[in-house]
Amino acid sequence: MENKHLLILGKSGTGKTHLIKSALSQGKFGNRIFIIDIKGAEYADLGKETTFLDACKTLKTMKKDTPFLWRFVPESESQIQMFCRLALTVGNCVVIAEEVSEYARLPKFRVLLTRGRSEGVQTVCIAQRPADVHRSVQSQCAMTIAFFTDDSRDLQWVLERYDQNSADEVRTLDKSKYEIAVWGETHLYNQYFK
Ligand SMILES: Nc1ncnc2c1ncn2[C@@H]1O[C@H](COP(=O)(O)OP(=O)(O)OP(=O)(O)O)[C@@H](O)[C@H]1O
Ligand SMILES: [Mg+2]
Repeated sequence: MENKHLLILGKSGTGKTHLIKSALSQGKFGNRIFIIDIKGAEYADLGKETTFLDACKTLKTMKKDTPFLWRFVPESESQIQMFCRLALTVGNCVVIAEEVSEYARLPKFRVLLTRGRSEGVQTVCIAQRPADVHRSVQSQCAMTIAFFTDDSRDLQWVLERYDQNSADEVRTLDKSKYEIAVWGETHLYNQYFK
């Protein structure tokens, strides 16, 4: 596993969570999974909510390869910071970070991105609006997957970060077919989502 951070963009209902769940169910992200389920129910079908206390209790008996799927439903920014710290302590895992624009600016989340790779922590950042994702997150992600958008602010972001062709591409994706555009290190798409 390359442990590179990924960014997934798309308006509500475009298929971001569906894409992630399908990769998870195929085992593409391994078996040490850490989900920040900020809406509280998006991943409820994968297991019951894990509390910080539950995770800490398990931590004592955990080995580097012990499988787990922890689904955290944070209630505050300080809880998000705690979960991010925990992910680094645990190491060797994939963090699925839903609605990342809500907390990407938090220091512990940014540490997760900057120090994650050396601890074997890969983060999948999911957001509705690219412009709302903190720049440090954008720059740490090796690959972007984008679903359809015709929003001028989103298109401007694509144009600035990539190019005019990419902006045209994302504007003409067929949303009824859940089509996507892939930019950056596109080989990562084949690794995780094909
Ligand atoms: N590739 C797909 N094939 C079939 N159905 C899909 C596909 N992708 C998404 N869907 C369906 O479209 C709906 C919305 O998808 P999803 O929940 O993944 O959106 P989202 O981008 O995560 O939205 P939000 O930002 O609101 O969480 C779901 O009912 C899902 O089952
Ligand atoms: Mg979703």
